Amino acid sequence: MKTVTCTAPVNIAVIKYWGKRDEKLILPLNDSISFTLSQDDMCAKTTVTISPKFTEDKFWLNGKEESLENPRIQNCLKEIRRRASKRKLEGSAEDILNWHIHICSANNFPTAAGLASSAAGYACLVYALGQVYGIEGDLSSIARQGSGSACRSIYGGLVRWHKGELEDGTDSIARPIAPADHFPNLRVIICVANSERKKTGSTDGMRQTVQTSKLMQHRIKESVVSRMESMIKAIKDKNWPAFCDLTMADSNEMHAVCQDTFPPCVYMTDTSHAVANLVHQYNDLKISQRDINHKVCYTFDAGPNACLFVPGAVVEEVLALLLFAFPPSSSQSPAEYVRGIQAHP
Ligand code: DP6
Repeated sequence: MKTVTCTAPVNIAVIKYWGKRDEKLILPLNDSISFTLSQDDMCAKTTVTISPKFTEDKFWLNGKEESLENPRIQNCLKEIRRRASKRKLEGSAEDILNWHIHICSANNFPTAAGLASSAAGYACLVYALGQVYGIEGDLSSIARQGSGSACRSIYGGLVRWHKGELEDGTDSIARPIAPADHFPNLRVIICVANSERKKTGSTDGMRQTVQTSKLMQHRIKESVVSRMESMIKAIKDKNWPAFCDLTMADSNEMHAVCQDTFPPCVYMTDTSHAVANLVHQYNDLKISQRDINHKVCYTFDAGPNACLFVPGAVVEEVLALLLFAFPPSSSQSPAEYVRGIQAHP
């Protein structure tokens, strides 16, 4: 018997992946960049066990047994086993490839609420499988086949997912571009406006956008390409104000192409827009105080929850502002509320 337990954190994209050039292999239409958060607050935990005594494969997600027939999990398993069999040919003794597998996975945050749960989940699954079968080399291209954004959670810090050019997707991989402390003392606040499962999942939403949005053509051919270049430069130069502006612009553009989708994919709510407005007002204040290095930025994935990147020096101030603008409901204790909205990179 062999067993491995791993944890993997969520990642938050600052240049968004939205739209595929190949649905089966999960190949994106554009490069993206994300920040992988620390393991402490929002992560997936997976235990993978293989044993000659197991009589069938089994899978539990958040304590509930689920079918392993999910094609994305199957694609990851197939690719892992293919790589493991290559290694076996190179000399491994045990015939572990014929043993059945038990997978037990759990998130410590809401699943499918636009909080990047699939990214952490698949990154964790693939990493654990890689450990069990002793696979070396890049795992991001396997995690990508579980969920596109998962390939970025294989690495820590700032990570770039290269869309790649090849049809077989072998060059569509993630690579770390800067360590977690690249912008020192950075904090992340996740404002959970709604933790329910989203109406249109990312996979369906991006497919509809690619099929119907003209604005998407502009994004893919022009704006996201030049924004990507500017973002790489901002990161290289440690230019925090530019990083903030580019992050917010890309989130806004992703939600604009969602709105331009027919029928529209609407993820942001009035609360989301109110949080974005608050951030812009706060930044205007920082600009007027000639304190632009303490600007804050927001980004929204396929859900209403704002993710704020906040310099550590102003995190208390920003939390106080949020508490004032969006008081906790009467059923929430302040401790619960803060736990609900704060995470650290
Ligand atoms: C808005 O990775 O969940 O979070 O590849 O179909 O599983 P699939 O989609 P997924 O999409 C994430 C979209 C996003 C932006 C991002 O993380 O880059």
